Amino acid sequence: MLKETRSQESQMTVQNGGLHSHVNIPKIKFTKLFINGEFVDAVSGKTFETIDPRTGEAVASIAQGDKEDVDKAVKAAREAFDNGPWPRLPGSERRRIMLRFADLMEQNAEEIAALETIDAGKLYFWTKKLEIPSAAETIRYFAGAADKIHGSTLKMSREMQGYTLREPIGVVGLIIPWNFPTQMFVTKVGPALAAGCTMIVKPAEQTPLSALYYAHLAKEAGIPDGVLNVVTGYGHSAGAAITSHMDIDKVSFTGSTEVGRLVMQAAATSNLKPVSLELGGKSPFIVFDDVDVDKMAELALLGTVYNKGEICVAGSRVFIQEGIYDKFLAKLVEKAKAWVVGDPFDPNVSQGPQVDKKQFEKILSYIELGKKEGATLLTGGKPIGTKGYYVEPTIFADVADDMTIAKEEIFGPVMSVMKFKTMEEVIKRANCTKYGLAAGIMTNDLNIANTVSRSLQAGIIWINCYFVFDKDMPFGGYKMSGFGRDLGMESLNQYLQVKSIAMPIYQSPWL
Ligand code: NAI
Ligand code: MG
Repeated sequence: MLKETRSQESQMTVQNGGLHSHVNIPKIKFTKLFINGEFVDAVSGKTFETIDPRTGEAVASIAQGDKEDVDKAVKAAREAFDNGPWPRLPGSERRRIMLRFADLMEQNAEEIAALETIDAGKLYFWTKKLEIPSAAETIRYFAGAADKIHGSTLKMSREMQGYTLREPIGVVGLIIPWNFPTQMFVTKVGPALAAGCTMIVKPAEQTPLSALYYAHLAKEAGIPDGVLNVVTGYGHSAGAAITSHMDIDKVSFTGSTEVGRLVMQAAATSNLKPVSLELGGKSPFIVFDDVDVDKMAELALLGTVYNKGEICVAGSRVFIQEGIYDKFLAKLVEKAKAWVVGDPFDPNVSQGPQVDKKQFEKILSYIELGKKEGATLLTGGKPIGTKGYYVEPTIFADVADDMTIAKEEIFGPVMSVMKFKTMEEVIKRANCTKYGLAAGIMTNDLNIANTVSRSLQAGIIWINCYFVFDKDMPFGGYKMSGFGRDLGMESLNQYLQVKSIAMPIYQSPWL
């Protein structure tokens, strides 16, 4: 068996380089840019390699789009917006085509899940059974909105009639990260399509495969040429060409806070396009004395290590109230040691490899920093195996609020545990961060749950649960975690603009 094994000291190893041989890995069919309904090479002819994080080896050469390619894609999207059918179709027709697109995603879930696993190290079975069906549901949710986009009739103060139209904003640039390539794709493409926009999607250079596959499915579903273009390539070239483009009307970006700043700067110095930014986080997971310790320790661990910790809402600052502190910590460590790391194709594995060498090294360097700054390493802390980018689930205790590991987003399976006494104290400490993406509150006391949820500065709060995302639940940041909301009906507004129209009811006062 190729399963992960553990020595008595709970040190994890991945056998056979962490490769599981029982799943058929599909041939990679789509490696070129998708512009105006066709797969094409980059103008420069250049390619880059996408890596399998289980081995560190290249799995495909992908067209390396740059400014010229973005220009071509924008031209196609502009033509499709200004003169093409998509924005002019009845909403019900866009809905019909989007529903077909969603069905095709689901029908191809097995193949796409395998692509996500070799490209991003995602758990194969989880992706196939949950992530892709849920992504298809997100497309269906927005498909259902496509024929319900309307403005309002206004109460005018004169004998005029006034009303608003909500019109598609135009050509949109959608820049997505590598940690949830499928979810991020549908979260942005879904409302943009429903609104009647045309678009250029730039997947992360680490994970280009699924977006190209979705482009092919979009065409098969009947989405007209030029509406959905995919330009693969690097952030500093293809990404920057999108954010500074004079003919792109809006950018929606998910990624690092650092690059979020560059996106705003580029928008400010080009055509003042509106941007929405979903950025990093350092979310608190707060556990009060009255909880079921065993269950909540399980959830707290998941809150940090799910998706290998590569998740912007990771609840990696775990605050535990003093009454249960020792017991809770012991449970956390026990569960972290039992957490199975290994080949993401193996159904018994809970954590695959980090996305690439850069993230892997970044995580290990944070772990070193944690030790240096005086936190107590309770478990984990090391890479696993000699091949691929596997990292042990890692728990630090005695973490002070001002230590680097308590302040910066690590984006890996690394938890910082802190002790607290009172509710007032923990509210203050939980809010003491530049970020404000998510927060978890674990308690059975309604007064505490209500008070803390209203006091925390975060865009999404989970009470006695964590990672609850829903297509109907708006998601986005407070503070430096960004602005604008993805998902929910509110997110449609990102892709619409309001036009007000007035006319006299009887005769014009100026005639
Ligand atoms: P990144 O912010 O560089 O990458 C995200 C996307 O932005 C990718 O598609 C990338 O090609 C693009 N991009 C990069 N530079 C750009 C530019 N100048 N103009 C336009 N687009 C650009 O993130 P990176 O470097 O891959 O990861 C670094 C850290 O960022 C992670 O360790 C994590 O802390 C955070 N991050 C947060 C995410 C989130 O979900 N909020 C997702 C990915 C990373
Ligand atoms: Mg980068």
